Amino acid sequence: MNFQVLEADITTLRVDAIVNAANESLLGGGGVDGAIHRAAGPALLAACRGLPEVRRNVRCPTGEARVTPGFDLPARWVIHTVGPVWQGGHHGEPDLLAACYTNCLKLAREKGVESIAFPAISAGVYGYPPDAAAAVAVGTMSAAPWRPERVVFCTFGSAMTRIYEGLM
Ligand code: APR
Repeated sequence: MNFQVLEADITTLRVDAIVNAANESLLGGGGVDGAIHRAAGPALLAACRGLPEVRRNVRCPTGEARVTPGFDLPARWVIHTVGPVWQGGHHGEPDLLAACYTNCLKLAREKGVESIAFPAISAGVYGYPPDAAAAVAVGTMSAAPWRPERVVFCTFGSAMTRIYEGLM
């Protein structure tokens, strides 16, 4: 597996695309979402606002992904995805989280992305147990029929780094 675990602020990474762990409105938030919007600048919010709503206040349903330019970020693209909120693990969370990674790869392929960095989707505010979230990330990436040449799992904090390294 040609995956890299990198403990870093994802907004600093010089990759073709970084993935944002967003919410369904795509209008920003805290965590990595907040960091990406701060670093990308206001044009990112404007671009997100310009994406069509599939229903009121929902531009990206859970499990799906949308792509925008990266604007002031080093990364050319931001692929926004919405992970499941953890509700105990019996509400389809694993499949929805896997779908996030699969749908991000689909958009990455369409954009000709050769390097991509993923944060630990859902493992923060959305409460997904970090080890289970990392296992879905690595498992889905390993099983994918296509992925960019360079795949980075960008961790924020040593605990998460150790979890991903343990899976490599
Ligand atoms: N770079 C890389 N990883 C980061 C960064 C950063 N700058 N900031 C936070 N993280 C990590 C967190 O430590 C966590 O491991 O990203 C992972 C995902 O955490 P969250 O950002 O809280 O995302 P998530 O759990 O998917 O919750 C999404 O939070 O920010 C809001 O708008 C967002 O409502 C949505 C929800």
